[in-house]
Amino acid sequence: MDQSAINKLIAAHKPGHALDRPFYTSESIYQRDIERIYMRSWLYAGHISEIPAQGDYLLFEFAKESVIIVHSDTGEISALLNVCRHRGSRVCLANEGKTAKFTCPYHGWTYALNGELRGAAHMDRDFDKNAYGLRKVHMQILAGLIFVNFSQSPANFDAVADDLCEALKPYNLEAAKVAHRQSYHIEGNWKLAIENYTECYHCAPAHPEYSRGHALAQGKASMQVQLEELMEKSQHCGLSNKTIDNSFLRTRDFGTDTAFTRYPMIRGHVTGSKDGTPIAPLLGTVTQYDGGCTDFQVGPVSFALAYCDHIVIYRFTPVDVSNSVCDITWLLRGDATEGEDYDRDKLVWLWDITTKADKVIIENNQLGINSRYYTPGPYSSMEEFTARFIDWYLHSIVRTSAD
Ligand code: FES
Ligand SMILES: [Fe+2]
Repeated sequence: MDQSAINKLIAAHKPGHALDRPFYTSESIYQRDIERIYMRSWLYAGHISEIPAQGDYLLFEFAKESVIIVHSDTGEISALLNVCRHRGSRVCLANEGKTAKFTCPYHGWTYALNGELRGAAHMDRDFDKNAYGLRKVHMQILAGLIFVNFSQSPANFDAVADDLCEALKPYNLEAAKVAHRQSYHIEGNWKLAIENYTECYHCAPAHPEYSRGHALAQGKASMQVQLEELMEKSQHCGLSNKTIDNSFLRTRDFGTDTAFTRYPMIRGHVTGSKDGTPIAPLLGTVTQYDGGCTDFQVGPVSFALAYCDHIVIYRFTPVDVSNSVCDITWLLRGDATEGEDYDRDKLVWLWDITTKADKVIIENNQLGINSRYYTPGPYSSMEEFTARFIDWYLHSIVRTSAD
């Protein structure tokens, strides 16, 4: 599919409707998605507690890219492209670990933790090691959450930090720890995963476990009174009652989306556990359960749900045009001890069962779209945010003569 055919398809999109099939199946549109969305956005790469000491590293991978997030000798965290400067081999093969240096498994070039090339045997005398360090991508840390951006001149992260710093403060995420991490492979285009995440129209039929305790499943209109009560109460419990809505806006610097939205829990639930009762020690400076939870977002493909006692982070990345991954990270208080203060299986239960159900519905969605009989239908009012994502997406990938 050439550029003008893609632009024609974008122009033909009916606002308030799902996308046409090629957006979920075309290799050329997928390539444009990667280049226009993923290569220019701030993407969640991990939490500082996962690499607390010098030499600790983890990989962040999607599509064809691989980045080493490493705690270097100087105490700084770097994001190094995992591509050898000799002939391009992957340098680091383990998903996580601890090392004093990175040695390429092909011809043995060795790199320091800050990416500098230190050893390259049998190279000419005039070979300049300084010119062959591992390339870096831009990296920023917000409340202990590590974000990377592949663009050479990424959008300023200050806007993100300005929006969210204060609202996230009570959770003290800098001092949190990762209790569990899990990846869910989804046989579906990455946009179907985001569309699914951005609406709760499907929550009642697909997620009985979630719907029991979270008012969002009933629709925003029916929770207005409960929401006002929550906002009143949240301040007394040490939580922010701020609302931030800066995601998927055409006016915003690309890739710097932010949101912070509180909503009530129902039927006596105070957190995302099986029976709604506390599941871990209260986070940060939160003094009491206020009966609510918080959706927040950083960048277009990283979302989180913050309860008073734990936080669940979601990141959606593509593998190829018809496969994606949902990575989930469960964070809780840094000094909480497994087996004493929390039970990992109980902590993970709700969002594991919910994400497995999401995987099934997203995959069924892709299967139906693959049919020759698929035609895009209208969004409901409960899919308002999804419609906004689609509008932003189309605007983001359109090519003009200036491109
Ligand atoms: S490709 Fe890495 S040392 Fe040759
Ligand atoms: Fe869902």
